[in-house]
Amino acid sequence: RRKVRIQHLGEMRDRGEKFAMLTTYDYLTAQIFDTAGAHALLIGDSAANVVFGHDSTLPVGLTELAPLVAAVRRGATSALVVADLPFGSYERSPEQAFDAASVMMKAGAEAVKLEGGVHMAPTIEFLTRRGIPVMAHIGFTPQSVNTLGGNRVQGRGDADAERIRADAKAVDTAGAFSVVLEMVPAAVAKQVTEASGIPTIGIGAGADCDGQVLVWQDMAGLARGRVARFVKRYADLGDQLEHAAAEYVSEVASGEFPGPEHTF
Ligand code: KIV
Ligand code: NA
Repeated sequence: RRKVRIQHLGEMRDRGEKFAMLTTYDYLTAQIFDTAGAHALLIGDSAANVVFGHDSTLPVGLTELAPLVAAVRRGATSALVVADLPFGSYERSPEQAFDAASVMMKAGAEAVKLEGGVHMAPTIEFLTRRGIPVMAHIGFTPQSVNTLGGNRVQGRGDADAERIRADAKAVDTAGAFSVVLEMVPAAVAKQVTEASGIPTIGIGAGADCDGQVLVWQDMAGLARGRVARFVKRYADLGDQLEHAAAEYVSEVASGEFPGPEHTF
């Protein structure tokens, strides 16, 4: 498989081919998802939730995420490696964003993702002009959960849909190579996708986006309990792993493991 570069996502869009991104936070899953054909791997700040156990993405920083970027890059041979810029690392100024993005690029990222539309456009332009490809993220932006008032669909109603369209246009004009649309009504995501010069990547944004992204632990059922409506579970890894661990514990207790074949 050829190495996926940022231009290839736009070429796929032009050919009418959908592409798939998955979050990834370690070496082994990066290898697995790369082999499975994922076009891009995102070291999401959702690591705050699914790796570190926080209830929002706000607590993680570059210190936590950059080592995960390095691990994923070692496992990704073809997929494009995209690193989230965590809350607090980029919002203050384009210069601050460059410093954060350069940490991620040195760790092995091939592009960074940041949250925000119109108000982040100057930062997107600043980074892209300095050699750092930017994936934008608009609609529901989890780092702003406190001002958005919870996990809410964004772009409902004419005025709010117009805000989403303006954000999409601004990040496109600023030079982003793609844009994530999170929790946006499908009709709005379709309009944005048709008007956009760059590929759109949906999560809870319907089937008309150019690509899709999911958090891998949600997609594979490692994360149990309630999941968002936009998640489809393709496996039940949580149940399988619990079963495997419970069997191991009970075989240790019974003396069945280790057997002669595991013994020197
Ligand atoms: O952090 C993350 O996992 C993300 C995706 C869900 C888009 O930003
Ligand atoms: Na994120």
